Amino acid sequence: MTVHGGIGQSVKRKEDARFVRGQGTYVDDIKLPGMLYLDIVRSPYAHARIRYINSERAMKVPGVLAVITGKDLEAAKLAWMPTLMSDRQMVLPVERVMYQAQEVAAVVAESRYAAADGVAAVDVEYEPLPVVVDPIKALEPDAPILRPDKNEKSNRIWHWETGERQATEKALKECDVVVRENIYIPRIHVASIETCGCVAQFDSTSGKLTMWMTTQAPHAIRTVFALVSGLPEHKIRIISPDIGGGFGGKVPVYPGYVLAVVAALKTGHPVKWIEDRSENIQADSFARDYHITAEIGATKDGKLKALRVKTIADHGYTDAAANPSKFPAGLFNIVTGSYPFEKAFVEVDGVYTNKPPGGIAYRCSFRVTEAAFTIERVIDVLAHKLGMDPAELRMKNFIPPEAFPFKSALGWTYDSGNYGAALRKAMDIIDYEGLRKEQAEKRKRGELMGIGISSFTEIVGAGPSATFDILGLKMFDSCEVRIHPTGKVIARFGTKSQGQGHETTYAQILAEELGISVDDITAEEGDTDTAPYGLGTYASRSTPVAGAAAAVAARKIRDKAKLIAAHLLEVSPDDLEWKDHKFQVKGVPAKAKTMQDIAFAAYTNHPQGMEAGLEATAYYDPPNLTFPFGSYICVVDIDKETGEVKIRRFVAVDDCGTIINPMIVEGQIHGGLTMGLAPALLEEIHYDEHGNIQGGTFMDYLLPTAVETPKWETAKTTTPSPHHPLGAKGVGESATVGAPAAIANAVVDALSHLGVTHIDIPITPWKVWKILNEKGIA
Ligand code: CDP
Repeated sequence: MTVHGGIGQSVKRKEDARFVRGQGTYVDDIKLPGMLYLDIVRSPYAHARIRYINSERAMKVPGVLAVITGKDLEAAKLAWMPTLMSDRQMVLPVERVMYQAQEVAAVVAESRYAAADGVAAVDVEYEPLPVVVDPIKALEPDAPILRPDKNEKSNRIWHWETGERQATEKALKECDVVVRENIYIPRIHVASIETCGCVAQFDSTSGKLTMWMTTQAPHAIRTVFALVSGLPEHKIRIISPDIGGGFGGKVPVYPGYVLAVVAALKTGHPVKWIEDRSENIQADSFARDYHITAEIGATKDGKLKALRVKTIADHGYTDAAANPSKFPAGLFNIVTGSYPFEKAFVEVDGVYTNKPPGGIAYRCSFRVTEAAFTIERVIDVLAHKLGMDPAELRMKNFIPPEAFPFKSALGWTYDSGNYGAALRKAMDIIDYEGLRKEQAEKRKRGELMGIGISSFTEIVGAGPSATFDILGLKMFDSCEVRIHPTGKVIARFGTKSQGQGHETTYAQILAEELGISVDDITAEEGDTDTAPYGLGTYASRSTPVAGAAAAVAARKIRDKAKLIAAHLLEVSPDDLEWKDHKFQVKGVPAKAKTMQDIAFAAYTNHPQGMEAGLEATAYYDPPNLTFPFGSYICVVDIDKETGEVKIRRFVAVDDCGTIINPMIVEGQIHGGLTMGLAPALLEEIHYDEHGNIQGGTFMDYLLPTAVETPKWETAKTTTPSPHHPLGAKGVGESATVGAPAAIANAVVDALSHLGVTHIDIPITPWKVWKILNEKGIA
């Protein structure tokens, strides 16, 4: 018997009732009496000494009330703040600016317009300094040292390695075939519809700071604010209201947030700071920027043996990556992908340059996209070298289903998988064999058609807390469930949806576990005064961790409910079973109590000596991560005259274990695929040699529109996670992780007969046309 809105049902999203009516509450909707507005002066230079900042003209602008500079903050010991990776980051500079668009001063005014006029009237004199844009040049011995404050003699931030260096070297030497490819995954930006912002309000009577803030991790932010500012943590309330897309970009603390707090303290008024679109794209945390060299060794008949990957990671002027602290290169060491390499070795060097800091994930679990792109791209390079079909090479090498739990050469224990089934399903849907025949015929006619596969494996759902922490905060997550006397439920979580539909899917988990209709359950997140402590939503961790916490909390409630049911039915608890979403006397299904019956009794007729009420809290520490996977196949046609790539078909078979809401999962995959197409064909943030951003507006940072987006074809296989209480794995990021390699592989496949082995993304018409022109085709 199903419960209304339980697991596996395509329940319509509860949150959409307000979103489709335009009644969501985003940070910019918060309007408080006496509220002031903050705007930011930003540097035109990528590297310069600040000679002076003169705010006299700005202070004369009608409505301007204050100008805040680095010197003001220095006096309050707030000019610098820690980054998520325990480096240092300027709130405002005192001596030097380190990237173009860096915050230089803040203007507080009575209106947003006056604040902007004030910004234009702040006079700053700069003395330009040598700029280092290229991380490889930054490592050369004569490169200017960008962070003298750290007393380092080089711009290398750290060197990190994992796996077996010597054994991998030896294994590669012994292989019949070794392929090596240089891959650059460029800087990109998440460009969520809502930019970042906050409203900071300080109540001087109670001493309480309330922040409405675009944050994916409200509790962690509260703790960091308390530690940095010295304000008591119970006097800080972070409210993360509706969020218009996060994708990792709303994990870090940006200087604007801190400046709004300082401005609120300084003026005694609430202060709003909302980034404009250009600021968001030019100054917020970036993603990717990995320069990779990957080598695969195999036998001549295509058995994979060894993998070696060397990477230079451009971190900008400070290491502010949003990674778990023990993983400076995130989870890049999932780069062995879906394959049982015998030996593997990965090394990454983090490097300072004159660019904005960050290193956020762009809808992936801490560098999983970089890893998936690398392995899936190089597998195709190998297939090409061996003259083998890329599907056959993958099928021959996949970790077999019976090998799970599988320990990878780089130490991860994959929970479950059936990679061959997913690829076979995608091949059947798209008619792979038929497409290969069509391609051969078209090649004879000189037409360019390509087929690309990506059979990726992700790693999502951090903790376990023994290994995963951010700034020392261990990565678990939480759920608190309270059932009211009439059987209606309020549940609160430590995560924070940014559009993923948690209000619906969490309610579905509880509906299933408690036997209460989804309509009778409210799931709430994002208010640190009410929600239990959690580490937030990013890296597809909500379902694997907070979703599991919901199930565990509900099961704790069932334990107590069983005792109440036994009392009501006048039987021993041992005589009861939870069946068909109620407690039944074993063998006598008519004698039963629903959770609603039990909830009423929990407040009116509970056994003598038992505590009243029906509620539970669970802090769930996952025993392992979950490893969702998928196989994507993309078919492209290339216009020989213009180099334009047209995606003709794209089939995505995903496996995220047990699915809570099929409609929401499909929506996540559609959105994710479009966000995977974006870096594959369109998006890149590039800097010229002076550190000027190229691509700092939507005129030249190209987002996919409906015109570029093909009709996605989706399907699934279901391989539950053995350790998750519901068998669910994360899915929110799968498609963004898996899609770029399928698209790039398809384009390279279309050109492989011309000797092309790799094209760096984004694969623009210009890049393709140049190749065609060199080959005498265009
Ligand atoms: O952490 P985040 O919410 O971004 O990612 P997620 O846990 O992968 O979930 C994305 C959305 O898909 C949520 O609404 C999930 O509850 C839903 N989902 C699902 O219905 N079934 C799954 N197996 C995984 C996610």
